[in-house]
Amino acid sequence: MQKLRYSELSASDRRLVDAAQRARGRAHAKHSQFQVGAAARYGNKVVLGCNVESDVYGLTNCAERTAVFAAHASGAAKGSFTALAVIADTPAPVAPCGACRQVLIEKGGPALRVIMANTRGDIAIATAADLLPGWFRLDARDYVSHKPATRKAKPSNSVPRRKVKR
Ligand code: THU
Repeated sequence: MQKLRYSELSASDRRLVDAAQRARGRAHAKHSQFQVGAAARYGNKVVLGCNVESDVYGLTNCAERTAVFAAHASGAAKGSFTALAVIADTPAPVAPCGACRQVLIEKGGPALRVIMANTRGDIAIATAADLLPGWFRLDARDYVSHKPATRKAKPSNSVPRRKVKR
């Protein structure tokens, strides 16, 4: 994990953090009052996300996942997902939750750059793999098919069926 200040970022990383900050202004955090903004870079497009809270608390969506899902809905996800910035008003750069880490690594791969920021100018940069070692990955070989067999197996102790005379 690399720790630095906003002023030390490259121009393109600074733009991503600025975009996340703009998205934070749209956070819908009526329960927690904790506003989070995110910006995802897909090719040369930047897609914004903010946290959106529900009265059914468990249905709340974090800023990071909002950005990723918006990228899919808008078509921006056709480009390659290379970096995501996330920002909140926290003493240290805000850390994505576990659910978001899973979605980020699935969609951006282990090398995805995650730029964590706070509104005071502190930055931490990690890869998605740094944030979620041992992540879950669904591989075709990991699950058992429940499709019915095409030919029914004959139980070994079955009585041979007699032909019925008509
Ligand atoms: N939240 C995010 O949007 N991103 C994070 O990485 C952590 C948490 C939101 C969810 C909820 O609306 C509020 O912050 C408090 O948990």
